Amino acid sequence: MKTLGIIGFGNMGLCLVEKVKTKKIKIWIFDKDKTKIGKPRGIYVAKNNVDLVKRVEAVVLAVKPQDFESVLEEIKTVARGKLIISIAAGITTGYIEKHLGEARIIRTMPNMPARIGEAITCICKGRFATDEDVDFTKDLFSSLGEILMLGEERMDAATAISGSGPGYCYDLMESQCIDINSPHAMDEFKKGFTLLLASAAVSVGFSPQYAMALARATASGSINLLIKSKLPPEEFKKQIASKGGTTEAGLEVLHRGGSLEEAAKAALNRAKELSKN
Ligand SMILES: NC(=O)c1ccc[n+]([C@@H]2O[C@H](COP(=O)([O-])OP(=O)(O)OC[C@H]3O[C@@H](n4cnc5c(N)ncnc54)[C@H](OP(=O)(O)O)[C@@H]3O)[C@@H](O)[C@H]2O)c1
Repeated sequence: MKTLGIIGFGNMGLCLVEKVKTKKIKIWIFDKDKTKIGKPRGIYVAKNNVDLVKRVEAVVLAVKPQDFESVLEEIKTVARGKLIISIAAGITTGYIEKHLGEARIIRTMPNMPARIGEAITCICKGRFATDEDVDFTKDLFSSLGEILMLGEERMDAATAISGSGPGYCYDLMESQCIDINSPHAMDEFKKGFTLLLASAAVSVGFSPQYAMALARATASGSINLLIKSKLPPEEFKKQIASKGGTTEAGLEVLHRGGSLEEAAKAALNRAKELSKN
């Protein structure tokens, strides 16, 4: 595929564009908030969502879960034959198919270290998506970091672990007053956090092997993002923990003195509440 549209140019939409721009793909974007779009270089701005979908072969939906229904309603008459890729928490491929008909859907869950190309993105395939669609999506998201293929029944748990994981990491660093300028302190924290997150991942249903893969990539990407950006942890925590989202649910538990396992379970429950089937 040679053309890609991105609906929603917030934290993740922007990040995706920055990483994918180097590929030989013509990128179109649209965001209803014009202040987010600015004057981007090397990409094209569509007039609206319908205009965007008409111009491209594949579309990434990078809006919040609560905005999905209106976006799907808006594009349903022009989405036939397009590959639709979602990055949203809780939105199932079945829900999108219900709105768009027998559409080719891929559901993904990247995470914040995408900013530095060190994300882990979990990917699952909808009923009508082809192997070629999966390969295209894997290629796209490999610009953001690692890829892990999952069954859809594990995607909410992935949201609770790798999607929200950077939020827990930054919160724990703050509460433990970890000195981000001390390589030794950061390394020790990373080791401990990786083991805690892996054990939380097992508690929400992952095999030990997948749990460790998710935890290792999430811990290392989150910490490297801090080191490279030189920004304080709370800066990224704000961007990850959206109101009513899975990370916020997990952080509420940590702030009440709960364990990381309990936090992950709360995030998983929130993902299920947000879930649209
Ligand atoms: N942030 C993370 O760490 C992370 C990680 C993995 C997955 N995700 C998923 O990624 C998605 C986007 O998250 P984000 O943090 O990038 O959110 P965000 O910063 O709020 O970006 C979403 C953008 O979409 C715009 N938008 C809303 N409705 C629209 C419409 N009908 N047409 C065009 N644009 C519209 C929003 O505008 P307004 O602000 O005006 O509403 C906003 O600019 C979410 O579904 C989230 O679950 C996020």
